[in-house]
Amino acid sequence: MTGSEAQITVSDLDMGYGDFILMRDLNFTVGKGDIFIIMGGSGCGKSTLMKILIGLKEPSRGQVVYGDVNFWEADPQEREQIMKRFGILYQSGALWSSMTLAENVALPLEQYTSLNRRQIGKIVSLKLALVGLAGFEKFYPSEISGGMKKRAGLARAMALDPEILFFDEPSAGLDPVSARLLDDLILELKESLGTTFVVVTHELASIFAIGNNSVYLDVDTRTMTASGDPRKLLAESSDPKVRNFLTRGEESAHAQVL
Ligand SMILES: Nc1ncnc2c1ncn2[C@@H]1O[C@H](COP(=O)(O)OP(=O)(O)OP(=O)(O)O)[C@@H](O)[C@H]1O
Ligand SMILES: [Mg+2]
Repeated sequence: MTGSEAQITVSDLDMGYGDFILMRDLNFTVGKGDIFIIMGGSGCGKSTLMKILIGLKEPSRGQVVYGDVNFWEADPQEREQIMKRFGILYQSGALWSSMTLAENVALPLEQYTSLNRRQIGKIVSLKLALVGLAGFEKFYPSEISGGMKKRAGLARAMALDPEILFFDEPSAGLDPVSARLLDDLILELKESLGTTFVVVTHELASIFAIGNNSVYLDVDTRTMTASGDPRKLLAESSDPKVRNFLTRGEESAHAQVL
């Protein structure tokens, strides 16, 4: 599954809201440099799981371990140290519309570093170049396409050189070409920087293009029913729901052709 050491280990995790348990008994490992996909139908708890992994929501039970630190049992300062290594793009994660792309990307640098204006400006240009937006520093979000906005969001999430990038529904609302470009970019960043990605997506093209590891959250049984390389799951999984989830694209692609 994962070719390298564990970066995140989730064990016996239950999650929910109040008394309502959304998912139980989650066990999986995200390796360093993995592109790990959180899969499952709408409303099964993908975003909730991401919130638990990034420290926004406590699990009902179980553990999330980063390296050798038990994240939710660590003291708040230690948890904060770990959170500083995260880059995050939320599902609704929009850019600030009243700020230019440069100002958006500069924000985390101004908040979390003591770098001066000139140094920040340099890093901002570098990050925008990294996502193919060199020269767009002075543009406002309303002046660029949806795909470019996602890439600018990625530049902002990468501003502090994160070890792990969490990305909720990167290709939502994008046309297939822009979605494909974003997938290529994620792969490039993984290769060149060794960043680990945890990506929530139900887009099959993305799952197979970028994912080397995954978990499938089954909404009916309220637990995970598969994990590992999505391509392997497609070839080997005997679970009809997992197979269905991983093959539905072929049918809709076929329908589109017809
Ligand atoms: N703050 C909250 N309080 C109570 N219930 C919530 C809260 N946030 C989400 N839920 C419920 O938890 C369930 C899972 O939500 P979540 O957003 O994690 O699912 P998801 O898999 O990300 O869905 P989608 O595919 O639509 O993004 C939903 O039924 C939702 O109504
Ligand atoms: Mg969601």
